[in-house]
Amino acid sequence: MPELNGKVVLVTGAAKRIGRAIALRLFQEGARVAIHYSSSEAEALETAGECGGAPLFRANLESVAEIERMFAEIDTQFGRIDGLVNNAARFTKFDPLTVTEADWDYIHDVNLKAVFFCCQQAARRMKAQGSGRIVNISSLGGLRPWAEHAHYCASKAGVIMLTQALAKAFAPEITVNSVAPGVIPFGEWNEAMAAMLKATPAGRVGTGEEIADAVVYFLRASNFVTGQIMAVDGGLSQR
Ligand SMILES: NC(=O)c1ccc[n+]([C@@H]2O[C@H](COP(=O)([O-])OP(=O)(O)OC[C@H]3O[C@@H](n4cnc5c(N)ncnc54)[C@H](OP(=O)(O)O)[C@@H]3O)[C@@H](O)[C@H]2O)c1
Repeated sequence: MPELNGKVVLVTGAAKRIGRAIALRLFQEGARVAIHYSSSEAEALETAGECGGAPLFRANLESVAEIERMFAEIDTQFGRIDGLVNNAARFTKFDPLTVTEADWDYIHDVNLKAVFFCCQQAARRMKAQGSGRIVNISSLGGLRPWAEHAHYCASKAGVIMLTQALAKAFAPEITVNSVAPGVIPFGEWNEAMAAMLKATPAGRVGTGEEIADAVVYFLRASNFVTGQIMAVDGGLSQR
């Protein structure tokens, strides 16, 4: 997908933060953006307005039935899908000694199960069209172990392996790549983030726009770039 102009790209969790930055950037590149959200309706409407009145798609991604309905709505609205950015996710902190089944499912249903089924829905359509681009947002936490986020790290490591396995499964028409953000704050700050900042070779935290740059690279790259994981983390993963 060398040019994004006119391409239909779905961004999940696009109402705010990194997803919003990705949606705005894709709109600037000329893409027809499909804005997914779940609970952040006001922010989604604002983002959609800034993306030229882009259509909104509401779905709780924990449910495969809702994922299927969302893709059917995209069929109705656009009649095709050229790109998928799996950005929506959950992040919680739990002592692994006390994690419950419900805690585990809370993370994995959105961070890993939904990513797989969104990839499946998109890929069926992209195969029929003859081309497509999928970018999964993983995390530095999928590359490096964080003791109090073992369940989250496992979900994001799963996203990384899913990216690599699906890159093989969906080739040659479709590429599947992943961007792994480092610390990308939107006003929040805590001791763990301060410690990560201190260890970051770039000496600063990142921005949603920097994640969007990497997403655009993968969306525009030829099908010779697939199964790749790009850490956008100021070099933190190299420590
Ligand atoms: N920010 C960071 O420092 C950082 C670092 C590493 C990796 N990442 C990854 O980058 C991506 C974006 O990060 P972020 O911090 O911008 O994310 P975020 O604000 O925590 O989450 C993005 C969106 O995910 C959606 N979401 C959550 N549960 C959902 C569900 N059940 N169904 C549908 N949507 C759901 C939410 O949509 P609604 O608000 O509409 O409900 C939310 O706005 C995530 O994949 C995250 O893991 C972020």
